[in-house]
Amino acid sequence: MNKYFLSIITVLLIIQSLFLIDDIFFPKKNIKNVYSVSSSVEEIDKKNEEKPLSKNLKNKIDFDNLFINANFEKGKKIAKQCAGCHDLEKSKKIKVGPPLWSIVGKQSALEENFEYSESLKNFKKEWSVENLYFFLENPKNYISGTKMIYKGLKKSEDRVNLIQYLKSLK
Ligand code: HEC
Repeated sequence: MNKYFLSIITVLLIIQSLFLIDDIFFPKKNIKNVYSVSSSVEEIDKKNEEKPLSKNLKNKIDFDNLFINANFEKGKKIAKQCAGCHDLEKSKKIKVGPPLWSIVGKQSALEENFEYSESLKNFKKEWSVENLYFFLENPKNYISGTKMIYKGLKKSEDRVNLIQYLKSLK
């Protein structure tokens, strides 16, 4: 009887130590964490898939606040990059691109004497502050097929300052 009892205890001890070794080499808590991190990454990916990036941004940007610190003078300087192709004066001359006088709030592709690309003709939107903001970041991405060959202004601040200046052209 005693013999049996001892051997049962020994077996139990061995099993117990096996569990301990298992815990040391394969800590279950960590494994759990790894899983939960990767699943939350998956969730974020899923969310991003559902909404295109620009839409996400649009929801996040508060345009009223964005223009509080807009700098007109800096915008005027940046507009020199546009002036090679666009007339910024009231004279509204056609250059490589259409004139930009009173462009903010204007319907797109409205200049009668300018031959717009099909893409811009089909855009059919108003040049609101929001649309200009996203267009000027990367024109070709925003309106694919546009014939405006311009790399865009990557910095949000530059676009805000420029649009602040464009607003004054009226
Ligand atoms: C290399 C020449 C070039 C430069 C530089 C350029 N543009 Fe353009 N832009 C064009 C052309 C060409 C079009 C007509 C695009 C089309 O028809 O697809 C255009 C179209 C536009 C339109 C649409 C106008 C409308 O009537 O619907 C806006 C707004 C605009 N440009 C703003 C700017 C601003 C602001 C800058 C400076 C940051 C700039 N562009 C720089 C050539 C240029």
